[in-house]
Amino acid sequence: MGEEARLIIRKLTTEDADAAAELDLKSFGKKDACSRNYFFQSAQDERKEFIVAVRNGKIIACAGAEIFSDTAEIESLAVDPDCRGQGIGKIILIKLIGAIKKRGASFMVLEVRPSNTAAIELYKGFGFQIVEREKNYYRDEDAWIMARDFG
Ligand SMILES: CC(C)(COP(=O)(O)OP(=O)(O)OC[C@H]1O[C@@H](n2cnc3c(N)ncnc32)[C@H](O)[C@@H]1OP(=O)(O)O)[C@@H](O)C(=O)NCCC(=O)NCCS
Repeated sequence: MGEEARLIIRKLTTEDADAAAELDLKSFGKKDACSRNYFFQSAQDERKEFIVAVRNGKIIACAGAEIFSDTAEIESLAVDPDCRGQGIGKIILIKLIGAIKKRGASFMVLEVRPSNTAAIELYKGFGFQIVEREKNYYRDEDAWIMARDFG
């Protein structure tokens, strides 16, 4: 593998906001994607931990969480559709969980569409369990709340 094809994981910066928003739009479509401003703010928010995966100079994955003392809410995770099924979701989630734990949070929670089999299987692989159904969380679907205590 050439040096430039290496996968680099680093923190999200404000300069990444456009690329992160574009990736989110490709991943979730208009109705669920987060805005450029969301990523711009998240990059500067000390309560948040946001990271990106970069290959050949391009952001191909982004993941982030908000930390509330010992609990973290994983609020964003996307892998470029052209790069899925290569283990990148797993890699960025391992890095995100590690970074969250370093900041002292061990209980992790997230919301996912019950129809999102790929994400649910990914989270189950990390030991997350479905703990609750939240009615009408999305405009057109309930959410499953998944959680795991990494402590
Ligand atoms: C969910 C997502 C992040 C997975 O990224 P990925 O890089 O393709 O995932 P990986 O290649 O690392 O696969 C990791 C695990 O996820 C699960 N998985 C991934 N794609 C899957 C699919 N199409 N069907 C079922 N399980 C799947 C598997 O358990 C897989 O482990 P395995 O390879 O040992 O079987 C990606 O599909 C994505 O960005 N989806 C759109 C955005 C999204 O739904 N984000 C989550 C919101 S809560």
